[in-house]
Amino acid sequence: MNHANQLEQIVYLNGHFIPMVDSKISTQDRGFLFGDGVYEVIPVYDSKLFRFKEHLQRLKNSLNAVSIQNPLSDSEWLTLLNTLIEKHPWKDQYIYLQVTRGIQIQRDHLPAEGLTPTVYAYTNPLKPVAPHILESGIKVITLEDIRWLKCDIKAITLLPNVMMKLAAKAQGADDAILVSREGLITEGTASNAFMVKEGTIFTPPNSNKLLPGITRQVIERIANAHGIPLIEQDITEAMLNEADEIWLSSSTKEALPVTMLNGNPVGTGKPSAVWQNINRFYHQYKQECLQTK
Ligand SMILES: Cc1ncc(COP(=O)(O)O)c(C=O)c1O
Repeated sequence: MNHANQLEQIVYLNGHFIPMVDSKISTQDRGFLFGDGVYEVIPVYDSKLFRFKEHLQRLKNSLNAVSIQNPLSDSEWLTLLNTLIEKHPWKDQYIYLQVTRGIQIQRDHLPAEGLTPTVYAYTNPLKPVAPHILESGIKVITLEDIRWLKCDIKAITLLPNVMMKLAAKAQGADDAILVSREGLITEGTASNAFMVKEGTIFTPPNSNKLLPGITRQVIERIANAHGIPLIEQDITEAMLNEADEIWLSSSTKEALPVTMLNGNPVGTGKPSAVWQNINRFYHQYKQECLQTK
C-alpha cells in the first residue's frame, strides 16, 4: 500500500474493520459536537506495539478522568490493535485510537445516561524523523500555555494546541514550548520538554499542566540505566534561555533536538552530546524490547 492508495486503509469503527472511505460517524456524536472524548497514539516497530501496557494504562486514566466507561477489556484492546496492524503492510506504524462518549440526539452539555462510546482506531506508516532534521535540530518559540488545567488527560479537545502550533508557524518556528501562567515550562504543543545544563537533564515534573508522556518515561529510564543525571524539576523561562541543550519528546518523534529558541541558538546551535547519547540509547532500547517479545 503506497501513499496514493492510502484510502484503501482499513480502520476499526465500533466493532468492525472497514475501509477508511466507508467509515462514517453520526453528526450527533459528542466527540464531533463537544470534543467529548479521549485518544492515544501508539507506535509500532517491526509490527509490534511499543509500550502497549503504558499506553493502555494512560488511556484508562483518561477515560476514568472524564467518566467515560472503558468500552473494551485489556485483551480486547490488544486483539483490536494487533488485528489493525496485521491488516497493513508497514513494519513501523503509529496507531491513533479515540473513544468518544457516543451519540446523543438531543444536544446537551450534560451527557445522557447509558450512551455507547464510539471507538475508532486507524494506523499510519511511521517514518523516522528525517536525518537532516536530526542533524540540524528544530526552531522553537516560547508561547503562553493557553490550555486548561487538565492537560494530564489525553483529551481530543485540541483547539488551543492547534492555535499555538499556528502561532509558532506564523513566527517562522517549527513548534512552541509552552509557558504556564506561573512562568514555568510545561511542554510542547504535542510533546514533552527537556533541557540540559552542565550534563544534567531537567524535565518538568508530572502535574495537571502536562501529559505524562510515555516517551518521556522511556527517556527517564534510559538516563537512569546509563547513569546520566536527570532531575524532574520546575523549569523557568530564564533557565531555558541558559540551557546547553533543549529537546522535545513524543511517540512519533522520539527525542527531537531543538537548536533555536526564540531566534537564538541553543548552546552550540547544534544537536549536542547528551541528546546524541540519549538518542542512541533510545534506539538500542527499542531493539532490546523487540528482541524480548
Ligand atoms: C501535549 C502532549 N504532550 C506530550 C506528548 C508526548 O507523549 P508520548 O510520549 O506519550 O507520545 C504528546 C503526544 O502527542 C502530547 O500531545
